[in-house]
Amino acid sequence: MPAPVVVITGALSGIGRATALAYARLGADVVVSGRHEERGAELAGELEGMGARALFVRADVRRDDDVRDLVDRAVDRFGGIDVALNNAGTEGWTGPITAVTDDAYAATFDTNVKGTLLSMKHEFRVIQEHGGGSIVNVSSIYGRMGYPEVSVYAGSKHAVIGFTKAAALEGAAHGIRVNAVAPGFTRTGMYERVTGDDRTRAAVNSVLPLRRPGTPEEVAEAVLFLGSDKAAYITGQTLTLDGGLMAGSPLFPGD
Ligand SMILES: NC(=O)c1ccc[n+]([C@@H]2O[C@H](COP(=O)([O-])OP(=O)(O)OC[C@H]3O[C@@H](n4cnc5c(N)ncnc54)[C@H](OP(=O)(O)O)[C@@H]3O)[C@@H](O)[C@H]2O)c1
Repeated sequence: MPAPVVVITGALSGIGRATALAYARLGADVVVSGRHEERGAELAGELEGMGARALFVRADVRRDDDVRDLVDRAVDRFGGIDVALNNAGTEGWTGPITAVTDDAYAATFDTNVKGTLLSMKHEFRVIQEHGGGSIVNVSSIYGRMGYPEVSVYAGSKHAVIGFTKAAALEGAAHGIRVNAVAPGFTRTGMYERVTGDDRTRAAVNSVLPLRRPGTPEEVAEAVLFLGSDKAAYITGQTLTLDGGLMAGSPLFPGD
């Protein structure tokens, strides 16, 4: 099989970056995008140093024109798109429902929800023209459950799962599979920011059945699987990578 052409949003750190490196190791053509020119050029250089063909495109996923340009430049350079990882995301705003503001909503939903939707819009346009491919959206365990004062982020990640399902049904006739990954606590910049300090991190680890956060490389492996022909009959699904957290509560351990 020829090397896939892969497009990744929010690729300059964390899960996006780990996935770009994993695809480069496979010899894929990798289009990485993000909001920082210099870091983007560095990452593209690193991927090329590994023997992959790579392109950086600056794109803020909240902007329709940026996402259109990202997808069009991927096609100009590599002839199409086989796999897209819609990963750009933010923890956005957290706080009690009574304190939600227009800005708090926009800070979270504009990237996590509109950004994912705009990404799929342009990816669909190109992938259906080229005979099919695979899209993987990044949701979260907060797309499968709630948590006090995380209503806006949880709402945004539930939305990602909702339109993963709807888009899978729409894409099926065009050979486009659409799935999502739902990472639990994963050791990235976002995890460091959200947990804040070592004491909180230890407390989080103590409620995780596997007693540790996941790694971005572990999420990348799941993306590679969903993006590949090994997952040819899987669409509309969300694969949760949470160290067992969603299997149940430690308060109710079962038999
Ligand atoms: N780490 C976790 O525990 C965890 C758990 C569940 C789900 N997730 C999800 O995993 C995805 C990746 O996050 P991460 O953990 O790898 O954290 P991260 O290192 O903070 O990565 C998020 C990336 O998205 C980019 N981004 C944010 N807003 C953007 C925008 N409007 N346009 C383009 N890029 C934008 C960020 O770039 P900038 O530097 O420009 O902001 C950053 O590179 C996110 O969707 C997140 O919600 C993470």
